[in-house]
Amino acid sequence: MNYRHSYHAGNFADVLKHVVLIALIEALKAKHTPMAVLDTHAGAGEYSLASEEALKTGEFRDGVLRLMHAERLPTLLHAYLNLVRVHNGVQTYPGSPLIAAQLLRDHDRLVLCEIQDEETAALRRLFSRDTRVAVHQRDGYQAMAALLPPKEKRGLVLIDPPFEAQEQEFRFIEEALVAAHKRWPTGVYAVWYPIKLRQSLLPFHRWLKESGMRKVLVAEICVHPDNSALRLNGCGMAIINAPYRLDRTLAELLPVLAGALAQSRYAQHRLEWLVED
Ligand SMILES: C[S@@+](CC[C@H](N)C(=O)[O-])C[C@H]1O[C@@H](n2cnc3c(N)ncnc32)[C@H](O)[C@@H]1O
Repeated sequence: MNYRHSYHAGNFADVLKHVVLIALIEALKAKHTPMAVLDTHAGAGEYSLASEEALKTGEFRDGVLRLMHAERLPTLLHAYLNLVRVHNGVQTYPGSPLIAAQLLRDHDRLVLCEIQDEETAALRRLFSRDTRVAVHQRDGYQAMAALLPPKEKRGLVLIDPPFEAQEQEFRFIEEALVAAHKRWPTGVYAVWYPIKLRQSLLPFHRWLKESGMRKVLVAEICVHPDNSALRLNGCGMAIINAPYRLDRTLAELLPVLAGALAQSRYAQHRLEWLVED
């Protein structure tokens, strides 16, 4: 396990993932009843943008920093930037756990899984006083089988693996989704995935179409052409049981994100129902 998210925090991929996460949590908050969020690959929770790692790649400069300089943004992107700014006093970028914790209500719960010692210790420090949050040092895929459905019977699972296993990671995700969906068919599942070579995504998208899962929406942005296996050209979120009107919210956001984050004139976005109901 070599992956360290501190090199990538706040990059364009984090921006898409965290904006979709906010849209999902806000949609679920439309009902007052409690919900649970399970973040299967939680990371450290927050990242210094002044760290050696962040400065080495400088990826946040083509991510969250670009958005901070953009004008006339839709409301949800302002909400995202406000969440970042609250934690930006000492130049830190909030990871998915901190974004979710800021949005969840007193009666909601957040369950975080992380495999690495340092990241888990950081999560425990960060949330030591937040009784809504539970941190587990364990495999996130196994946790899906063990911890679902949550007692609230409402909520969201964010699956954000490092893809060190490359295309094999999609097979792990599919396996975990099958087991989780059997136990909790009405949960909302959001899977982040990298886009390098477009063809490599086809088996995963085909699988989603044929999986028997409902309301499967994919939202993608590409900052480069999607024709090279050698770099991260874009990324996507596949959402299962997508909440009502999420497609409308994302239809407003994706073109703005693709425009603001473009690194070539071939930048593009895509919003597609793989399974509509
Ligand atoms: C892309 S990062 C997560 C970023 C985080 N979700 C965010 O948006 O701020 C992936 C994390 O998954 C962790 N990880 C890798 N394999 C794992 C596994 N099998 N179970 C749980 N966590 C894992 C890595 O240590 C890394 O911190």
